Amino acid sequence: MKLRSAQWYAGQDRNAYIHRAWMRRGVPADAFTGRPQIAIANTASDLAPCNAHLNEVAASVRNGVYEAGGIPLDVPVVSLGETQMRPTAMLWRNMAAMATEEMLRANPVDGVVLLGGCDKTIPSLLMAASSVDLPAVVMPGGPMLTGTFRGKPLGCGTDVWRLSEEVRAGTLSNEEFTRSESAMIRSRGHCNTMGTASTMAVVAEALGTTLPGTAGTPAPDSRLLEAAHRTGRLAVEMVSADRRPSTVLTKASFHNAIVALAAVGGSTNAVVHLLAIAGRLGVDLTLDDFDRIGSRVPVLADLLPAGRFLMDDLYRAGGLLAVLREVRDLLDPEGLTVDGTPLVDHLDDAPIWDPEVIRSRQKPLVAEGGIAVLRGSLAPRGAVVKPAAASPHLLRHRGRAVVFDSIEDFHARVDDPDLDIDADSVMVLRGCGPKGYPGMPEVSNMPLPRKLLEQGVRDMVRVCDGRMSGTAYGTVVLHVAPEAAAGGPLALVRTGDVISLDVDARRLDLEVSAEELARRTPSRATVDGYAAPRRGWERLYVDHVQQADTGADLDFLTGSSGSEVSRESH
Ligand code: FES
Repeated sequence: MKLRSAQWYAGQDRNAYIHRAWMRRGVPADAFTGRPQIAIANTASDLAPCNAHLNEVAASVRNGVYEAGGIPLDVPVVSLGETQMRPTAMLWRNMAAMATEEMLRANPVDGVVLLGGCDKTIPSLLMAASSVDLPAVVMPGGPMLTGTFRGKPLGCGTDVWRLSEEVRAGTLSNEEFTRSESAMIRSRGHCNTMGTASTMAVVAEALGTTLPGTAGTPAPDSRLLEAAHRTGRLAVEMVSADRRPSTVLTKASFHNAIVALAAVGGSTNAVVHLLAIAGRLGVDLTLDDFDRIGSRVPVLADLLPAGRFLMDDLYRAGGLLAVLREVRDLLDPEGLTVDGTPLVDHLDDAPIWDPEVIRSRQKPLVAEGGIAVLRGSLAPRGAVVKPAAASPHLLRHRGRAVVFDSIEDFHARVDDPDLDIDADSVMVLRGCGPKGYPGMPEVSNMPLPRKLLEQGVRDMVRVCDGRMSGTAYGTVVLHVAPEAAAGGPLALVRTGDVISLDVDARRLDLEVSAEELARRTPSRATVDGYAAPRRGWERLYVDHVQQADTGADLDFLTGSSGSEVSRESH
């Protein structure tokens, strides 16, 4: 087996000497002859609390790598903590991907184990691995155990939104709300709802990038460390088999990921992440594929935010493979996994242990789930809505727009008793796309005006060019493209215009004539926000980020550069 790392380590010349000598530090000489060098791209960070336990997971991966004859190498990489970063962790997804890709390419690495968990970490790692195209396997960090408050389970994110709405509606005191804080995060691990982190772990497994049966293993469960050990072994085997992202990840893999996304009622954020990963691989995946493949798939996992249970319940009930077994006929049998076998080959021994949590095909939570892709005069390049998280009576709706130019404008006015808004209004928030914010934050699920909450209103149609937390719910139209700051018609909407939404017909329209729109100029606030002076990464990002309908990657980062390094360093 000819290893990539031999370009650094093989031979008797001065350069090979330098590469070996600085890496010796106690390891035997045979570490550099014929033994795969396996990077453990580790997103452990105290500022990404959902990933803070990954050093322990990395230790198990190391053991597996050694056992299989490889050399494990700890490589801390950029980590993005969803709850902490401002203006939004998404602003740095592409930066994390770029930095990881470059570090893997620049170093004597033959294969990589990708340790992620919190929302953006698995997507950025997979984007990096796809572009550098080295044998790569994902090891998800796993969800936390479920905490309880006043005897009831708490769903991360989802119950924060619910409890804070109760405070605003006057049905929960501030004191009780604060008391729930210490109960929300019971253990190590990422959010326990089917939010973006859980979704991306599930999607990574359905794509074929994890050891089958690993996604959703709770972070404190000892079986997670066992899976990490086996993943380390597998990484060494993948190098021998030359099994790379470009050979594992095909259109069939993305088909299976979309089926899984729908069957678990996963986050809309998976749409932008999967499109970005496909863009790195040159796989022809489009926004419409999500609707075409996903919308006939039943939602079978009864999990928050669409249902009742949480991630440790899913694992107890049989996990992702049990869900996929129910929809086996909808999967593409050509989709492979990192162990070299088809995904569907792993479904024979995948029983459902609790049919309340994982529904049978005959008793789905929602008969047809997935993500609906809307187009129309308000979203010429597309927008998405998750019907399973929406209110059925709002899926076809006409209403008067109430427009907010920014999230600050929204917060300043939403609870004004004089705001001219009712339950039939359509709330519009713009300036929240990739360029406009910048970074496309999760602000689209605008809280409802207090006066309407007090009247008992619990959902309204909302339209935005940003994203929504995977833990949120409601009739929210997201990812409107082009965004307002990129010249989309969203910038031309005025309060009082009529917007019509028809999810069955896949339409989102602004009922204003083309002549009238041509006379209008974009909202000043949107243009000013985009034109703000910037430096560093933010400047690079705003100048080069693409729209949500193709994954919001930077234009010069799409595609693969492979792992070739042509020049020596000394
Ligand atoms: Fe990290 Fe939810 S905040 S997974």
